[in-house]
Amino acid sequence: MAKIIQAVRGMHDILPEQSRLFRHLDSTARAVLGAYGYEEMRLPLVESTELFARTIGAATDIVEKEMYTFADRNGDSLSLRPEGTAGCVRAGIENGLLHNQMQRLWYAGAMFRHERPQKGRYRQFHQIGVETFGMVGPDIDAELIFLTQRLWAGLGLQDVRLQINSLGSPVARAAYREQLVSYLAAHQAQLDEDSRRRLHTNPLRVLDSKNPDTQTVIANAPCLLDVLDEESRAHFDTLRAMLDAAGVAYEVNPRLVRGLDYYTKTVFEWITDRLGAQGTVCAGGRYDGLVEQLGGRATPAAGFALGVERVVALLEEAAVVPAEPGPDFYLVAVGEQAERMGVVWAEQLRTAAPEARVIGHCGGGSFKSQLKRADKSGASFALIVGDEEVDKGNVGVKPLRAEMPQQTWAWRELLTQLAGARGDEVSRRLAAQ
Ligand code: HAM
Repeated sequence: MAKIIQAVRGMHDILPEQSRLFRHLDSTARAVLGAYGYEEMRLPLVESTELFARTIGAATDIVEKEMYTFADRNGDSLSLRPEGTAGCVRAGIENGLLHNQMQRLWYAGAMFRHERPQKGRYRQFHQIGVETFGMVGPDIDAELIFLTQRLWAGLGLQDVRLQINSLGSPVARAAYREQLVSYLAAHQAQLDEDSRRRLHTNPLRVLDSKNPDTQTVIANAPCLLDVLDEESRAHFDTLRAMLDAAGVAYEVNPRLVRGLDYYTKTVFEWITDRLGAQGTVCAGGRYDGLVEQLGGRATPAAGFALGVERVVALLEEAAVVPAEPGPDFYLVAVGEQAERMGVVWAEQLRTAAPEARVIGHCGGGSFKSQLKRADKSGASFALIVGDEEVDKGNVGVKPLRAEMPQQTWAWRELLTQLAGARGDEVSRRLAAQ
């Protein structure tokens, strides 16, 4: 037997059962985003490596060790996108969408990070990302948070809580960074190895360490919120007032720093305790400096991305089962002539009632086995065609879900009866007979 090839580690197939939940998330998000006036972007999976180094930050885990980077046939260094913000900003600048404009944009798709795979953490995963441009105040930060909250409600999810923080202006952050480095340096012996390394490359990330000894040190570290610049402080206070006024519950987490370098002022995360270690289902914040950093005119910006696999895992955990109707008809065809005509009749039915969901049985088999399949498909009716029916131009209509007798219809008459039926009427028109 030939060797079986397996999927790449950390990259998963999404099978029909699960893809139903993905679709549920997708359609709910699409509806909520549409209602808030956000428009969809479709962005490339591959960008130049430099784009990510210049945006996410050369000293971040993502750029340092997690990117899928390769030289293409011209020798250009390209990377599979580890996230969507960088590409969205690049596209905005390149297509003239940002300068002096207000934009509310979103995108969805696969992202790639060479992380150590575990539950909730994959090497290929999906995000739904939202980015806004041209709006400088905390009102847009609040809108992004309201939108995510509405999405959780629409999905029927409850166990997610909001944490917010402010990272201040770049100047305030640089001053804080110095304070933090001198504090941490004085306690170096108690830091874990990773944190000691980060002390000189990306000291704010030390605040994220899960190591218990390091956490003891962090507990007494100077706090960025205490040294915020005045403008960032006012921005943060107004955001908090807006969330309070709207009745949105949140916790201020002064240690929330995010793993990407581009953030300024507001950052936030939605977290759940139901998924183990990988509990952040959605994360984002402001990134007012990024457009200019990439060569565009200075443009305020804010956004977030949710981790699709993690939200789907929460839906599974909460036993959310999206209502997806089964097919309306399963056409059973038994006999040589019937098999030949069955596939044609199924097609005629689709033409007469384009919204009907029709499965035509293919591959022959006994009446009993075909009927079994019809039942398993979840169809409302089996349409039964034998050689005799083909001769007479008739079809048997057998209700599979309702307690009703089987009927015989002239095929032409059935097509007329169902002509133009809207999706939800298809079965009803027959049931009413
Ligand atoms: P991020 O925090 O790196 O931010 O990722 C956002 C979300 O993607 C995470 O909260 C998590 O749910 C999901 N995620 C990240 N890595 C993985 C993984 N390896 N496996 C499964 N899920 C994962 C960003 O990507 C920013 N671009 C968000 C943003 C948009 N900020 C402003 N605009």
